[in-house]
Amino acid sequence: MLNTAEILNQLVNRKKNFALPRDLYCDQGVFQADLENIWYKEWLYAIPACEVPKTGNYATMQVGAYPLLIVRGGDGKIRAFHNVCRHRGQRLCSKPNGSTPKLVCPYHQWTYELDGKLLYARDMGDDFDASKFGLKTVHCVELNGMVFVCLAEVPPAIGDLAKQLAGYLAPGALNDAKVAFSSTIIENGNWKLVIENNRECYHCGGAHPSLCRTYSDNPRMTAMEGPDSASPDILAHWKRCEEAGLPSRFVNHPKMQWRLARIPLLNNAESYTLSTKAAVAKRMGSMPFNDAGSLLFFHYPNTWNHFLADHAIVFRTLPISPTETQVTTNWLVHKDAVEGVDYDIETLTRVWLNTNDEDRQVVEENQKGILSPAYEPGPYSSIQEEGVVQFIDWYAGTMIDRLSPTPAMAAE
Ligand code: FES
Ligand SMILES: [Fe+2]
Repeated sequence: MLNTAEILNQLVNRKKNFALPRDLYCDQGVFQADLENIWYKEWLYAIPACEVPKTGNYATMQVGAYPLLIVRGGDGKIRAFHNVCRHRGQRLCSKPNGSTPKLVCPYHQWTYELDGKLLYARDMGDDFDASKFGLKTVHCVELNGMVFVCLAEVPPAIGDLAKQLAGYLAPGALNDAKVAFSSTIIENGNWKLVIENNRECYHCGGAHPSLCRTYSDNPRMTAMEGPDSASPDILAHWKRCEEAGLPSRFVNHPKMQWRLARIPLLNNAESYTLSTKAAVAKRMGSMPFNDAGSLLFFHYPNTWNHFLADHAIVFRTLPISPTETQVTTNWLVHKDAVEGVDYDIETLTRVWLNTNDEDRQVVEENQKGILSPAYEPGPYSSIQEEGVVQFIDWYAGTMIDRLSPTPAMAAE
């Protein structure tokens, strides 16, 4: 298990534009350092707000060592808490999601309000002060229908992203959507391999026959290379969409932690379906036409998303162990769309259920090869894997900043 100095050494001495050394994809010390310096510090995408549409609806998630609880209060606000009872520490909610009028601990029934206040604790004596034992809060924001949480004491600024999402997500109106289908899988691979695989389509032609009917694997088409390298097709698509009120242009975080860009689908396809036609008869929000393509949004370390005219597909990854990552996918449709009338689950989900499973297989084989002592990092393609280079540069830069001794510590 590597210590901090050894991890730092590997990060500083990595070969630029090459895959990372083996330890960074499998070592327990690196996994712990990733949790402490990335996962416990950054804003993480948690759930679509429409997963908890009503007062008392909740969802749970596990971020490293932290069980979290996200719940909609009586005031309509979504809050996040540590999912840990203030009595003797029982996990309050064990199901992935549910609904409850109050948060009641299953062990001794301490009862909390949906805003985290302790309402009731039986037989605790006259000097017990319930106001001191409210649930511990976790930073939580809802940005146009996407809920983010952050475990840091002082979370990083999220104002720029909030402003951009407000414009880009408004026409799709995620708050008027519902979860039509949800899938959670475990990929036996390091979380960075899952994101790396997502950030390129070099593998798409070989791995994703059903996705490739509608999604171009040309990196220029999918705007992987930056705001200045858009092809004429992309520029024409942006013009048409923006004239119809859909923000579409490539916008990004200065260090590429996130990016938004709308891309056209192949051959005027309307959606990620085998037929290329819309999967849902009722369009999302105020989307003006079916062939608006896909608004792509990623945010490191844990989400990528496709917002189409007829539905949205939102993805969340969470690290389980050095070589296991949980991937949850939610398919969102207009809340008034009726299953069996306006859409059917098979048509809606087939392409991305296939694609997720194909990605799981490539990530797992990637991890198995990297575990070999014979593995040696190879070069990323400058034409196809610019997105991976961006992610790895963001990861290594962030880790180096946070692991490096401060001048004061170095002098000690
Ligand atoms: S641990 Fe929750 S009520 Fe005792
Ligand atoms: Fe893929």
